[in-house]
Order: sequence, then structure tokens, then C-alpha cells
Amino acid sequence: MADPRSAYTQSVDFYAGLRPEELLCAYGSPLYVYNEAMLRLRCREMRDFIPLHRLKVCYSAKANANPHLLEIIRSEGLWVDAMSPGELLMNRRAGFSREEIFYVCNNVHSEELALAAAQSRIVSVDSLSQLEDFGLAAPGAEVMTRLNPGIGAGHHRKVITAGKETKFGINPEDIPQIHEICARHGLKLAGLNQHVGSLFMQPEAFLRAARRLLELAGGFSGLKYLDFGGGFGIPYRKYAGEARLDIASLGRACADLFGGWAVKNAYSGLFILEPGRYIAAEAGLLLGTVTAVKNNGPTRYVCTDMGFNILPRPMLYGAFHDVEIYRPAGESASGAAELPQAIVGNICESGDILHRDYPLPPIDKGDVLALLDAGAYCYSMASSYNQRPRPAEALIRPDGSVRLIRRRESVENLLDLIP
Ligand code: LLP
Repeated sequence: MADPRSAYTQSVDFYAGLRPEELLCAYGSPLYVYNEAMLRLRCREMRDFIPLHRLKVCYSAKANANPHLLEIIRSEGLWVDAMSPGELLMNRRAGFSREEIFYVCNNVHSEELALAAAQSRIVSVDSLSQLEDFGLAAPGAEVMTRLNPGIGAGHHRKVITAGKETKFGINPEDIPQIHEICARHGLKLAGLNQHVGSLFMQPEAFLRAARRLLELAGGFSGLKYLDFGGGFGIPYRKYAGEARLDIASLGRACADLFGGWAVKNAYSGLFILEPGRYIAAEAGLLLGTVTAVKNNGPTRYVCTDMGFNILPRPMLYGAFHDVEIYRPAGESASGAAELPQAIVGNICESGDILHRDYPLPPIDKGDVLALLDAGAYCYSMASSYNQRPRPAEALIRPDGSVRLIRRRESVENLLDLIP
């Protein structure tokens, strides 16, 4: 094998016998590539996560809302959440029924609340003021309210969504007003939800916050939904052997906690989880091409066609995506020692850096690179900054066939909205 680095994707048979270069030839570079078998595996892990029949897993569509991927997720028996009319549209396109969609939104107009009430099983609002709006938009409807449990977690302060420093959720002290507003509009308070933040690898904060939500839920009657949000992390440092979140023991802890609480409180409703990243991240990667290699001062720059417009996570959060290096068979792989290299994109900003000084085998012009674990919050956050169209998305099926699941945006598409 001539590849300087491909052990991880080989170990999980990500390409199902195909070569990454072939995919780029067929669909162009850069390219998002997804693996259906991996997506199904993660759905099944989450679905079977808690040995409790009244658990429902709602995939959080914000992680990746490609309807073809959503369709696979639906076929595994998961439900879905949405937080915008666009996500509702994608969910409906994938075949999710109204009853299978939870609308968990933040700071929206009344028209959107009315649309969400019509097109989803239940809407969660996250302020008293939005509860008022919902009461006017859908009087008499069922509603969930998002509470701030005061305990947050996440890989970066920008994605911690509970605790003191966040715009999310209703303060538990305001619960009396929740009852008052619901009574005034004839709303039935059918659920409580929360979300501590995105990407925890240790379960303590999630469990503490879950206990807190249950404690608060004990003060309500008639609840049908208790939704603990998402945040389940994945190991991004594949080549450093980062450990996985121990999902089985977390599942057992949740089963004990939820099951015990349900018995004690005679609760016959659903427990909901909303994982996004855990389902989608490892099922996708971004392939791109090295267009130049150069030295500037002490730094060796590996220049690629993967700008932060198409993979914003490193620029936004300093996030780490592991790298594989492919070189067409027949050319010798360099046996040289690893050296620190900066991997950069093609966008006009100095911050357009995927890795600053990652020690890797020497990368050459023409090499194909993969940024791993790019199935969640990558394409869904991509833009056409610098007027660079967004890439295509391709799906590798379990039988090794490939399906184009989103066409590459063209430069002409950039004119679509210009009158
Ligand atoms: N539920 C709610 C209410 C959420 O706000 C989120 C994520 C989730 C569920 C799913 O969280 P997950 O299981 O995927 O961690 N762009 C950031 C992540 C932002 C997460 C936003 N909310 C990133 O790239 O790391």
C-alpha cells in the first residue's frame, strides 16, 4: 500500500474497496463522503443505548440534514428534531411524519411557531416570552418548555448551552410563570427538555443535569415527554487512540435513573435523547487535494482546496479533525520521519487553517487528504464564502456502490438569488 496514512479508514473499511482518488475523479474535489454502514451502526448503538422501552432517540438534524442520510436514520427507527423551517422541510422530505418530529427552537417569529405546531409532534419553547407567543399562535396546543438545569458541558465555550453563561432555557425559578402562561392560553404543558451542550466524553455532567431535570419534573403533572438533549461525544483523535465514550455503561446508568424515577412518579411518558454528532460525525469525511506545498519561515504549509468555508470547525472552535494521506498506488510512499506541517485551505484569511503543526508523514503536492469525522456540523455549517461553491456529497452503500446525494454547487448557482 502506497498511502502514507490510511490505517483508520482501512480498519473500518470506510471506502468499501474503492479508492479515494476514484471518488474525486468521479465527483470532483473537494468532496464529502459518507458511509451508510457506519451511519446505521451509530443509529443502532444509540437506539439500543438504554435498555428501557420508553426511550425514543430523536436524531438532531442540525448535525447533518441531508435528506438521504435522514432517510437512512429514519429506517433505523429513530425520530428526528428540527429547529428551523428548513430542517422541517428536510425531515419531511426524508419521510418523517409529523408525529416523528420534535421542534426544539430558539428565538423565532410567531409565524414559525404556528408552522412548527402544524408540522411537528410538539414544539419546545425556551423563554417565557416565546411561550406567550406560542399560546397566541397555537392556543390549546401541547407544548414543551426548555429549562436551564444550571449544569453545562461541551468541547468549547461556544457550544455549552446550559449553566449561567448561555442564552438557552428558562430559569427553574420561573416555573410558576410557565404554569400561569399555559393556563391563560389553554396550553397543555406536555414536556420538559434541556441540552447541556455539545460533545462530552465523560458522562458526569450529563447525568447530573438529567437528575436535576427529573427533580424538577417531579413538580409537574401530566408530562408525556422528558427530553435530555444530546451532546454525546466521539473521539476525534483517532490516530492518538482516543478512547470512546462508554456508551454502554452510560446507557445502564440512564436506565437505572430514568426507570427508577418513572416507577416512583408513576410516569408513563417517553424519555427522549437528541444526539446529533454521535450518529453522523464518524459516518462522514471530507476529501480534498493538495494544490501546493511551500515553506514560509519555519513552517511547511500544505495547501489544499479545503477552506474553512467548507469545514468551519477548526476555525470556529479550534476543533481537531484527524488526517489521512493517500497517494496513488505505484508511487512510493515516503518513508521519511513525521514532521510538523500546517494544513491550510484556499480562503483569503490567515485563520484558514485546518491544522497548525500536526506531525505527519511529509505531504506532497497532488496527494489526496481526508479530514476524518466530518459527518456532523461540517457540511451543515458550510458556506460559499469567497464565492466558492459548496462541495458535492457522496454516499458509499454497504454493497460498495456509490450514490451522489447532493450535487456540487456551481458558480452559476451563486447567481440564483440575484434579481
Ligand atoms: N439538542 C439541542 C437542543 C441542541 O442544541 C443540539 C446541538 C443537539 C440536541 C445535538 O447535540 P450533539 O449531540 O450533536 O452534540 N457546531 C458545533 C455543535 C453545535 C451543537 C448545537 N446544538 C460543533 O461543530 O461542534
